[in-house]
Amino acid sequence: MSGGSKLWGGRFQKPTHELVDQLNASLPFDRRLARHDILGSLAHVTMLARQGIVPLEDARAIAQGLRVILQEIQEERFVFRLADEDIHLSVERRLRELIGPAAGRLHTARSRNDQVALDFRLWMREAILEVGEGIVETSQALLDLANEHRDVVLPGYTHLQRAQPLLLAHHLHAYVAMLARDLARLQELYRRVNRSPLGSGALAGVPYPIDRAFVAELLAMDGILENSIDAVSARDFALEFLADLAIVMAHLSRLAEELVLWSSSEFGFIEFDDAFATGSSIMPQKKNPDVAELLRGKSGRVFGHLMGLLTVVKGLPLAYNKDLQEDKEGVFDALDTVALLLRVLPPMLRTLRIDRGRMHTAAEQGFTLATDVADALVRAGVPFRDAHEAVGRLVAYCIAEGKTFGELAADELVRFHPRLAEIVFPRTVWDAVRAREHPGGTGPEHVARALEASRSELERTARWLQQERQRIDEAFARLLSEEFP
Ligand code: ARG
Repeated sequence: MSGGSKLWGGRFQKPTHELVDQLNASLPFDRRLARHDILGSLAHVTMLARQGIVPLEDARAIAQGLRVILQEIQEERFVFRLADEDIHLSVERRLRELIGPAAGRLHTARSRNDQVALDFRLWMREAILEVGEGIVETSQALLDLANEHRDVVLPGYTHLQRAQPLLLAHHLHAYVAMLARDLARLQELYRRVNRSPLGSGALAGVPYPIDRAFVAELLAMDGILENSIDAVSARDFALEFLADLAIVMAHLSRLAEELVLWSSSEFGFIEFDDAFATGSSIMPQKKNPDVAELLRGKSGRVFGHLMGLLTVVKGLPLAYNKDLQEDKEGVFDALDTVALLLRVLPPMLRTLRIDRGRMHTAAEQGFTLATDVADALVRAGVPFRDAHEAVGRLVAYCIAEGKTFGELAADELVRFHPRLAEIVFPRTVWDAVRAREHPGGTGPEHVARALEASRSELERTARWLQQERQRIDEAFARLLSEEFP
């Protein structure tokens, strides 16, 4: 990017200091909004011409120039100059070079304040779709893994102590459930993002007979933002985006942590494919779960971006303040981080090797059937608290004697509770799992239905994502076609 100073129109007698340009410029990062900036301008100029605010001839020249600029940017021929300050002024400067004074009419009835708010929203709605697609893919990989291992039992944990046997499919489905809520949150946010601030001008609206709804329609947006002051200064949509991504990362980091644990020799439940693990530069025997660790670790930067933007917007007076220029980099980085992880995760999950034997053996150890023994006593009429107490003492006895429940004789059992010798003991981890056939439980039949239901819900979401993408693509293709304005 080349340098140079800027002369700010008639009010100023000298150009800005070179260091001010450096500080002030957002071009190094907001050039990422170039495509949306141009599409927004195409919609704006189309409306200006239709409303008779600029002559049709000039509007045509502007539209043609904008299309050329987009091509230059896409072919990486566009020269970005730091002195242009930001993407909006950059495009306008180039437009003047291409078509001359008519370029000066594009910024009629518009300010960079409503312009940047529009660009960011147009960019973000596609970012939401991208994250949504990644979550769908990841959920599908989890569902496939669950389906392939419907007959695998592992110990479920609380406090990271073996608790009760679970179906692996049920465990994996828990993540699908979290991600389903993440998708729902993003879908809802999409509706709030997809509203046009254009026409708000600097903050008060503009003294021209504009048609805001028409601009929104051209851009396939769902309507306009009502209050001009709010429209140019609101960034809660970006906060929400970061919050939603932070929650996605919180969920993925939990999965990551389990994968790290499970791949350790201590657990030995899974092994990563070589393509999704790394070696050590000194210890030849090592196979490290770097991908899962980065999945866990990168949550930090996404959380940080949320806190950063909250701090930027807190206490800002209405309406636009230059502080708001700080809204973009964190959001861009959050998207890049999450989108990449969501692309790595599905193939990593699909190539995971599951050691069913290790999982099963672990599920049998640690007295994971103790609750079920207590429940059997309850079914024989014993109050649950008494049953809990008796089985607790039984477990302590087994640990001291080095025995399992199955190895106890009737005369040993009755020492802990008279009914213990009469009841039917759950013998295997499958007994425990099969006993929980109700909605939300780990019973195999219920789990199969839950997987199926999630699959259908995901297909519905995938269709929605596709429809929205298509709606945007069609609107943009129209704006870029020769018939506009
Ligand atoms: N680069 C600016 C931003 O990102 C664009 C808006 C500038 N508006 C202004 N009044 N200086 O926020």
